[in-house]
Amino acid sequence: MPGLPLILDCDPGVDDAVALLLALAAPEALDVLAITTVAGNVGGGLTSRNACLIRELAGRPEVPVFAGQDRPLVREPVIADHFHGPGGLGDLPAAAPARGPETTPAVDYMIRALRERPAGEVTLALTGPMTNLAEAIRRAPDIVPRIRQVVAMGGARREGGNITASAEYNIHADPHAADIVVRAGLDLVLLGLDVTHQVTATEARRERISRLASPQARAVSQLLAFSARTEARLGTGGAPPLHDPCVVLWLLAPEIFDLRPCHLAIETGSALTLGHTAVEFRTGERHPANARWGVSADSDAAFARIVALLERYG
Ligand code: RIB
Ligand code: CA
Repeated sequence: MPGLPLILDCDPGVDDAVALLLALAAPEALDVLAITTVAGNVGGGLTSRNACLIRELAGRPEVPVFAGQDRPLVREPVIADHFHGPGGLGDLPAAAPARGPETTPAVDYMIRALRERPAGEVTLALTGPMTNLAEAIRRAPDIVPRIRQVVAMGGARREGGNITASAEYNIHADPHAADIVVRAGLDLVLLGLDVTHQVTATEARRERISRLASPQARAVSQLLAFSARTEARLGTGGAPPLHDPCVVLWLLAPEIFDLRPCHLAIETGSALTLGHTAVEFRTGERHPANARWGVSADSDAAFARIVALLERYG
């Protein structure tokens, strides 16, 4: 029984890299059709290079990488290399991948794949700004009913913002793209800071991963150690949240998370609150439900699943 057909759209990025290694470790559960990349944490050339490096590290060189949009739909780019390092993969050795991305742009690939695959078969996992999907919807609205589900890391309600006081990075980095996605009528699951701040790489958990011997687990250990140092220097000083891995964990074990239906709207007009996710749980005629919002996570179960996935690498 092949796994869930999945396109993973990302901006590697330290936590995107961990998410990719987890997704690529379970081919019987997740049939990763392709990795599409977008400019976000670092520039588009680096995010596509990093995705190629991670697929090789995962021993999955056959998974194609398609480079996507190199800037947001409207606003000026805002990168997050202060959290991910200048190359985007923390202090992992910078290298050139054996094979780079395909020549087809990611948006063209997304449209083609969704039109060619049976309607309702392909799931999209988004762990970066939503630029690629929004551009695909703009160019080819017919793909919307063909998408099985979109599971994205983004937004914040209870937790407040991590890039501004009121906005989470992925949504703030391209709010106009997020606005298109939330208005499209998709089956949309949004895992924002309200849940990812509950799934943190504590010192004990990092130590557990450091005891795994595979090159993949050692890379994750190094990436998490980098994040822990960065979080101590620039963040809350606590353990680094495992933002993007939560998307893969939801796909593999949705029972780890509690979701609530909501009406989700994106701020695109205010400079002060650009990218704010207005999450309204009092849905109804005035505020029809257009998404399911992550409200809590079982962090011990999440971490146990992460270790089990990494142990698959040997
Ligand atoms: O706010 C966290 C998100 O922003 C994650 O996807 C991280 O990779 C950064 O892109
Ligand atoms: Ca990301």
